Amino acid sequence: MSAREVVLGVGGGIAAYKSCDLLRRLQDEGFAVTVIPTPSSLNFVGAATWEALSGRPVTTTVWERVDEVRHVRLGKETDFNIIAPATADLIARIAHGRADDLLTNTLLASTAPTLIVPAMHPAMWANPATVSNVELLRERGYHVMEPDHGRLTGSDVGVGRFPETARIVKEFKAITDPVLDLAGKKVLVTAGGTREPLDPIRFIGNRSSGRQGLAVARAAAKRGAEVTLISANGQTSELPGLTVINVETAEEMFSNVDKYFDGTDVLVMSAAVADAKPSQVSAAKIKKGALTAIELTANPDIIATVASRKKNQIVIAFAAETSLDLAEGERKLLAKSADILFLNDVAGSEIFGSGQTQGVILVRSSHDVISHHEIERISKDTLADLLLDQALDKLG
Ligand code: CTP
Repeated sequence: MSAREVVLGVGGGIAAYKSCDLLRRLQDEGFAVTVIPTPSSLNFVGAATWEALSGRPVTTTVWERVDEVRHVRLGKETDFNIIAPATADLIARIAHGRADDLLTNTLLASTAPTLIVPAMHPAMWANPATVSNVELLRERGYHVMEPDHGRLTGSDVGVGRFPETARIVKEFKAITDPVLDLAGKKVLVTAGGTREPLDPIRFIGNRSSGRQGLAVARAAAKRGAEVTLISANGQTSELPGLTVINVETAEEMFSNVDKYFDGTDVLVMSAAVADAKPSQVSAAKIKKGALTAIELTANPDIIATVASRKKNQIVIAFAAETSLDLAEGERKLLAKSADILFLNDVAGSEIFGSGQTQGVILVRSSHDVISHHEIERISKDTLADLLLDQALDKLG
């Protein structure tokens, strides 16, 4: 096998026919492709088509060519996997480690980077089961594309369409030939929400899920940066390539940001930091009769404190507001001595814990002129890259 071996897994959706063109375009890009259709996908495109187009044998179960132990051999030898189209069922099977056909067996035996290209009815894409399966796969490092919005097989319109071939190839190439434009740069990211203890049981917290910060940390690492993630009360178990520091309170976050800031190139302050903490932390549980008022003491403003001494660092702030007030965004950007600020409207709290976001990126020029870039609903991963693009632009 050559250096750029690809397994193209084809799920049982009508978009399977569009993957015939995708296969051709992958070959145009110099990849050698072995196609593994699921048995049900043969209802849409037959094995003969795939054999003719790929010039390679095509089987769908582990009970064919048993002497070759194809799932193990293909799993070991492939450099990249691309699953297109990925149905809701196929996504569920991959997420849960099922191995009931050749494709899922091969994926279990493979450690190669994998791009999953979903295509299904919008209701199936929005179903909590699919949403959580996609989340699980992303947490495990699979790249899951966002399907397109548009007309589906029937008369319904929504998010679920198989993306245009050119978009799939572009996304796949970003995985196979990553742009390491942040190589040699140090990026410090804060994520999550701080918790300020009141007693051993209770704390003052907030609704930040930490997903945006995690997306920035992952995107920066993918682009070659050396990333330190300071995570407040987040899920940080499987984050290859990142240095993770877990903290609980604003004070702990402050001391770590303060320690690493001078040696960093970019600070991305996406954590939701409690502005104040209980003045007294009780060593014993406070009984309900005594819980009538909480006296608060201000926490340090982390970003404003470190950014006021910045030299060449690029500082990115976030502002979650309950109304999209551009003047307030501009005021905050200047008050925090930041270079870039992402302003979003969290009224109704749809943004918290979601994979999607929307808002305005404010960018401050060297002459303190602030430009606005409106961001329509996009994934937090995409926003992460847009913010890093802006930072890179400023780093020069
Ligand atoms: N931030 C910080 N330290 C704090 C509070 C906020 O570093 N003690 C950072 C956040 O991480 C974010 C930015 O400041 O990047 C803006 O946070 P926000 O809560 O919107 O601003 P505040 O200054 O707290 O203003 P207000 O709560 O009055 O809106």
